[in-house]
Amino acid sequence: MTSAMDNLCAMTIARFKDLCVDVSSPSEMAAFWGKVIGLTTPADNSQPLRTGNHHQTNRARPGTGEGHVTGLLEGKRILVTGVITDASLAFHVAKAAQEQGATVVLTGFGRMRLVERIAQRLPKPAPVLELDVTDQSQLDSLADRVREHTDGLDGVLHSIGNAPASCLGEGAFLSAPWEDVASALQVSAYSFKSLSTACLPLMSPGGSIVGMDFDNRQAWPAYDWMGVAKSALESICRYLARDLGPKGIRVNLVAAGPVRTMAARSIPGFAAFEDAWDGRAPLGWDVNNPEPVARTCCALLSDWLPATTGSMVWADGGFHAVGV
Ligand SMILES: NC(=O)c1ccc[n+]([C@@H]2O[C@H](COP(=O)([O-])OP(=O)(O)OC[C@H]3O[C@@H](n4cnc5c(N)ncnc54)[C@H](O)[C@@H]3O)[C@@H](O)[C@H]2O)c1
Repeated sequence: MTSAMDNLCAMTIARFKDLCVDVSSPSEMAAFWGKVIGLTTPADNSQPLRTGNHHQTNRARPGTGEGHVTGLLEGKRILVTGVITDASLAFHVAKAAQEQGATVVLTGFGRMRLVERIAQRLPKPAPVLELDVTDQSQLDSLADRVREHTDGLDGVLHSIGNAPASCLGEGAFLSAPWEDVASALQVSAYSFKSLSTACLPLMSPGGSIVGMDFDNRQAWPAYDWMGVAKSALESICRYLARDLGPKGIRVNLVAAGPVRTMAARSIPGFAAFEDAWDGRAPLGWDVNNPEPVARTCCALLSDWLPATTGSMVWADGGFHAVGV
């Protein structure tokens, strides 16, 4: 009871800190009171309406409204992999997690100087550790290296994917050599297991592991062996959930709609996804807005989905739910 009261007090104080703004106009006053009562004001909701070819046109885009949630991840220690640019989905998860009160440790692959530079664009400084998920010695030392920055982990984000060029694009499925396919599967799917087991010594009941998926229940144009890797990832998520559930650790995937990132640009024909998505997704979709995906990851990293594991949670504007 005392700790519930403490939490309530901390959240109230955080809310009031958040509210320390100059209010000098009626619209600012409306926004202020919207914040006080935790609601979005009409002004906050005045987001651009969809311009796509969908038959319903008068809806705001998903994830663009200010939710004014604060402290969702207060006190959480989260390891975020997969930042390479400030467009990376992982960058936006790290940013949203910090904004929600989490302490974030990043891992980077290859271009460490670049990742360290990008890390400086986060709201708060975050240490960056090197991690190539195909390097067993780096995986073996990960827990000790994380311990230099934090005494444990409450959450882990796997936001890693790569496939050699031979695995993607027209004709790739029938011609890609096994060595390339094996690389795609190791980096994009098997590494979900490798990263999870590497982080396990740092985790305790209540922990949450989240991976980034592109729903591969059907064959897509161009996605080819990366799609197969995503199907493997979906299966690995279920097996991890089975084996880590008894330890109180949840494992889930966020199936994101297409967002313009470095990995997305490497997919030949990515534009076809972009064109299709906004027209079909009931909520609409903006390929330049990573925030709905980042928020969904934060929700899964929080304590608010305590009975959800082995699941694929869509953050795709509802594209998966409807036909043409
Ligand atoms: N962008 C999209 O439209 C979209 C949609 C659904 C799912 N996803 C998934 O989101 C995840 C992140 O991709 P993104 O779109 O943010 O692109 P991104 O290029 O920003 O991120 C991909 C990351 O994978 C890392 N990586 C590659 N090989 C690695 C290795 N051996 N060890 C460690 N890290 C390695 C890269 O360094 C990079 O940080 C991927 O799993 C991707 O498939 C992306």
